[in-house]
Amino acid sequence: MSDTTQSAESAHRPMSPEEFRQAAHRLVDWIADYRLTLARGDYPVQSVVTPGEVKAQLSPAAPEHPQPVDAVIEDFIKTIVPGMTHWQHPSFFGYFPGNSTLPSLLGDMLSSALGVIGLSWQSSPALTELESQTVTWMRDLLGLSSQWTGALQDTASTASLVAMICARERLTHYSAAAGGLQSVNQPLVVYASAQAHSSIEKAAVLAGFGRHYIRLIKTDEQFALCPDALALAIQEDRANGLLPCAVVATTGTTSTTAMDPIAAIAAITKREGLWLHVDAAMAGSAMLLPEFRHYWDGIDGADSIVVNAHKWLGVVFDCSLYFVRDEQHLIRVMSTNPSYLQSAVDGEVINYRDWGIPLGRRFRALKLWFLLRTEGVASLRARLRRDLANAQWLAEAVRQAPSWRVVAPVLLQTVCLRHEPPGLHGEALDEYTQRWAAAVNASGDAYVTPSKVAGAWMVRVSIGAHLTERQHVEKLWATLQAVVGHTR
Ligand SMILES: Cc1ncc(COP(=O)(O)O)c(C=O)c1O
Repeated sequence: MSDTTQSAESAHRPMSPEEFRQAAHRLVDWIADYRLTLARGDYPVQSVVTPGEVKAQLSPAAPEHPQPVDAVIEDFIKTIVPGMTHWQHPSFFGYFPGNSTLPSLLGDMLSSALGVIGLSWQSSPALTELESQTVTWMRDLLGLSSQWTGALQDTASTASLVAMICARERLTHYSAAAGGLQSVNQPLVVYASAQAHSSIEKAAVLAGFGRHYIRLIKTDEQFALCPDALALAIQEDRANGLLPCAVVATTGTTSTTAMDPIAAIAAITKREGLWLHVDAAMAGSAMLLPEFRHYWDGIDGADSIVVNAHKWLGVVFDCSLYFVRDEQHLIRVMSTNPSYLQSAVDGEVINYRDWGIPLGRRFRALKLWFLLRTEGVASLRARLRRDLANAQWLAEAVRQAPSWRVVAPVLLQTVCLRHEPPGLHGEALDEYTQRWAAAVNASGDAYVTPSKVAGAWMVRVSIGAHLTERQHVEKLWATLQAVVGHTR
């Protein structure tokens, strides 16, 4: 093979902007059609593929030579789409909503198009300044006072990890700067409710606390943390020579959207000198509505808060708002300052690399900015209220139906329910519940999540996909009743 042939074969052949324009127009058309099809409910909500089915259709090795982008798009439609469970479907009632609203999607596209990495203010000034302003907008919209400042993180899991590290560092007087936890004589303890999300336990473990020193405090009949039990656990740990360090309160638990009593918990953390982190990943969005803010009474006594803008609110995943009371403490814990990242304006600007774990940061604020500006806050509030009203409608229908039960207070947009046919109890009822939930999902008509509460299986209907209207909730209720009719 001659040198010329070799260089022609291995020549770099990037997509030209004109080729991109054509492919992107085709994709944008596909996206708009996809959303229209979803709105009509034409797709089965849950993917019907079996394990390994998608992979079996993929080439075992990456292509050596270029393939036309149209062929890739065709394969995407033929192979990938059938392997998707459609979170944006109006009959998606699983987990919590992960709304990818269209304006936010536009902002996300631009973030990728600009392709910048926020290492420092100087690496792209607008990235930092838009983030600073949109996070302040959100702080004000959520009814938080000006004592809070914040930054965007990827997920609530990361934000909670940051919170646990900050808690550890405050109590140990910045132990990480010296011997770390290895040099602390007494074990540190973290407290959260037994209903806290698994990311809290993970954060505490990753922050070095160790599973032995995580206390899952009992909850009341509403599944909210019992402050008396918390106070007692702290007292017992102190008596045993341990160092209580942090409490995580949840505003909107994952199973049932229970709300831990922030004011009572904050009174304890203040008295005991503990860090208070509030995990409002889901229910934080509801604080856009003044009628929900009572769930945050006492919030100014917390040290950190996380709210997922990528859940109900409608910002394309991922986008978590992380607020702190003492930004200097956060910066002190998270900062590193190698010479190649220093700049002449460092004293005047925010460098968000010092507000979290990653050095490089996506331009996440764009998708939040596009959503807030293009939908407007009044419209967002109306959508949230629509979902809350739909949840109350469903709960009432379930309460009125024989052998059906709402098993947890409906405080937000999630209805936890169970069908309890006469004579079915314990394990048999659990097995039946999981079976009919699987049958609902397999039908493709709706998607729900079975989950355990108070030791028994139930089904969570989490309303709040942005396309979900009352008619979809009515249809879901009809599906649930039909499915249980032929499940026994
Ligand atoms: C209460 C709560 N906290 C944390 C999380 C984790 O969120 P992320 O996926 O952003 O880490 C969830 C996810 O549903 C949640 O419901």
